[in-house]
Amino acid sequence: MFPGSFDPFTNGHADIVERSLEIFDRIIVGVLHNPSKNNLFSQVERVALITKLFAKYGGRVSVVSFSGLLVEFVASTKSRVVIRGLRAISDYDYEAQMALVNRRLAPKIETLFLTAREENSYISSTVVKQVAMLGGDVSDMVPPMIARALERKYRDSRKPR
Ligand code: PNS
Repeated sequence: MFPGSFDPFTNGHADIVERSLEIFDRIIVGVLHNPSKNNLFSQVERVALITKLFAKYGGRVSVVSFSGLLVEFVASTKSRVVIRGLRAISDYDYEAQMALVNRRLAPKIETLFLTAREENSYISSTVVKQVAMLGGDVSDMVPPMIARALERKYRDSRKPR
């Protein structure tokens, strides 16, 4: 299980899925549905974009939205491993806390951290949104399909009034 908000899905996320496919037969990308969070892409858009990105892997990658507790969702899919990417030491505090809480809630579910590739270690969904909103080039940070979706989202908001 690779869970996240994925608003939007970045090259860093794609790399974690691809490397996870070298370890596991099947990966579920769990897309958090959190109506109280002001996401740029709707739940439906995020699931559709990620599904398209991994269509080439056939049934090995499934993309499913979830709400509520991650460990409950993980258990409902019969998966046992939560995969998270770590970019820098600064990610560690939050990630370790989440892993410990999840272990307390569900001791049989294990969290596995994969280190981000160096070239992706500066990428975050937040940075991508900021650069795209201001008209910058995000083609090194996200898959081409996501770059086009960002362009469509922000095109109208950049038109001079
Ligand atoms: O991409 P993100 O926003 O860093 O992903 C965070 C995510 C979705 C993995 C995390 O917020 C989560 O698991 N949310 C579900 C609620 C939950 O289970 N919380 C308890 C663990 S702290």
